[in-house]
Amino acid sequence: MAHQRTVRSHNCGELRRSDIGKEITLCGWIGKRRDHGGLVFSDLRDRYGLTQIVFDPAIARPEVFEAAGRLRTEFVIWCKGSVRSRPEGMANPKLSTGEIEVACTELQILSEAKTTPFPIEDDVEVAETVRLKYRYLDLRRPSLQRNLLVRHKMLSIVRNELDKQGFVEVETPILYKSTPEGARDFIVPSRLNPGTFYALPQSPQTLKQLLMVSGMDRYYQVARCFRDEDLRADRQPEFSQIDIEASFLDEEAFFPILETMISKLWKDVLGQEVKTPFLRMPYSEAMARFGSDKPDIRFGLELQDLSGVFHASGFQVFKNALTANSRGIAGSVRAIVVAGQAERFSRKDLDDLQAHAGTFGAKGLLWIKVQADGTLQSPAAKFFSEEEKSALVAKLGLKAGDLVLCVADPRNKVVFDALGAIRLNVGGKLGMIPKQGEGKPAFLWVVDFPLLEYDEKENRYYACHHPFTSPKPEHFSDFVNGQNLESVLASAYDMVLNGVEVGGGSMRIYRPEVQAAMFRSLGLSPEQAREKFGFFLEALQYGTPPHGGIAFGIERLTAILCGVGPIRDVMAFPKTQKGTCLMSESPSAVEPDQLRDLGICLVSGSDKIPGNSPQNSKD
Ligand code: AMO
Ligand code: AMP
Repeated sequence: MAHQRTVRSHNCGELRRSDIGKEITLCGWIGKRRDHGGLVFSDLRDRYGLTQIVFDPAIARPEVFEAAGRLRTEFVIWCKGSVRSRPEGMANPKLSTGEIEVACTELQILSEAKTTPFPIEDDVEVAETVRLKYRYLDLRRPSLQRNLLVRHKMLSIVRNELDKQGFVEVETPILYKSTPEGARDFIVPSRLNPGTFYALPQSPQTLKQLLMVSGMDRYYQVARCFRDEDLRADRQPEFSQIDIEASFLDEEAFFPILETMISKLWKDVLGQEVKTPFLRMPYSEAMARFGSDKPDIRFGLELQDLSGVFHASGFQVFKNALTANSRGIAGSVRAIVVAGQAERFSRKDLDDLQAHAGTFGAKGLLWIKVQADGTLQSPAAKFFSEEEKSALVAKLGLKAGDLVLCVADPRNKVVFDALGAIRLNVGGKLGMIPKQGEGKPAFLWVVDFPLLEYDEKENRYYACHHPFTSPKPEHFSDFVNGQNLESVLASAYDMVLNGVEVGGGSMRIYRPEVQAAMFRSLGLSPEQAREKFGFFLEALQYGTPPHGGIAFGIERLTAILCGVGPIRDVMAFPKTQKGTCLMSESPSAVEPDQLRDLGICLVSGSDKIPGNSPQNSKD
């Protein structure tokens, strides 16, 4: 085989008018190929761009021209040639190299390619399963390459900014112990310690706090996190965080550091100015106005509380919602008003919306249309008194053509979740929500979260953020004394951008007795607390600085910076909704020997294992 030349003088995005006349070499992948009256044109592509190369029999030797005839898309080549101006009228202003072409005098085919399962171009319809199976080909597409470059740029800006502020990157283990972030753990059996398991970290939460105990003062990490939970467009089982922790800082000192870092990203990646300080909104307000703890504040359709209007309602649904339960807590009746658009909602649209509300536990979605003569049309109109009707019209400022969508439930969480989702649904349907990446970014901090959430079914409290979150100083004594637990607020905060929770964190508990009180509130016995977090409780006893932190979801931030929807598009090798990698076909079975070494035996007859259903394994 002839000596292969593999080194290039330029990349495929680099040559300009000023290079005309130069002898250059290029390497790359063959894109579209066109034969034109004896001339062979081809696009040569690499990460940097696309250059038109041309094989002209008047210039290229016959064997070069013959080799050019064998080129197929996705062949990898080396070529040599001279840069020349494209003929009059043939320049391509959309391409950075669009004014020139390279007339090739030498060509080497470095590797051939089978016909790819889909063309390597953006805007080609390809089933996502095929894209994921051939991810390395998918990643050749310019848009995905751009997304990975944005991700890279973002992380280098973040590292630089945090470095300037004295934050030190420290790596923490992946083989570790369960961290309570609310998802299931992925567990890894230990061969050296049979019968025991590591848990992959859901986040480095305890470790970064221990780094504060160790005096590291300011830590960050681009941290891999693992959560076995149901996947969605913005959730992957394995994802990355910009994980941050700092000592001797309160929110007032911490937020500006984070806002500076984030606004620098928007400035350097998108050239957009972001106004700081960010808006702060208490959790209670976010829920009351938007039915969400990650409100998209770029459009209206805000929630309205109708509990006052219907406090004495004869409509059973409303009455039930407003009657206090055994714990003295009543629900509510709330609504959104779609001004002037009632006509756009058919019965089927309203039924679909009701079904959507139902997925959040709502028993219905009552609609009320204001007719041209001002009367109210609704399946429940007959249950409303005249006073209620006029109070409703006055409260909501209703006019002819308005549509009211209303949810009532004894559980406020159901009312908020359902109406919050209906607000987004209707806003989307009416084109009120800008696409990610369009318009100004709407950042805010959601603050003053409740510390604990009561689970009626399980009859116990859960930590709203995680159990290391500190109560607000003014709620300390209530918390430690176990009083009014439901109204105790946390020093916790989320950063929300365009309706997406891009980051979340809190000031931490740093006194062991408060941490013990937290475990107690969560129903952990002292033994259980010791077993799970003994090492952590012990560490707090050796001089712990007040500290707090945050973690940003790298994929979510990048997706918004790139203006794409699902976070899969900003990850090199993402998993499917079922948590599988179609390319490597993982997860997969392992050799019986491997299981034996680990002391693991699959339960015969377990209906969790396909092909191993109880009927199949009677013997
Ligand atoms: P939290 O659980 O809120 O906090 O996570 C922080 C941020 O990580 C992103 N995120 C995810 N991104 C993709 N896929 C997922 N499955 C996923 N889960 C979370 C979100 C979220 O805002 N240890 C705490 C942080 C702290 O208190 O400092 C934590 O992990 O953008
Ligand atoms: P029903 O009496 O169950 O036929 O309901 C009458 C109307 O009230 C229907 O339009 C339902 O969609 C609506 N509805 C029922 N339950 C609720 C609820 N919890 N919140 C809002 N509307 C409801």
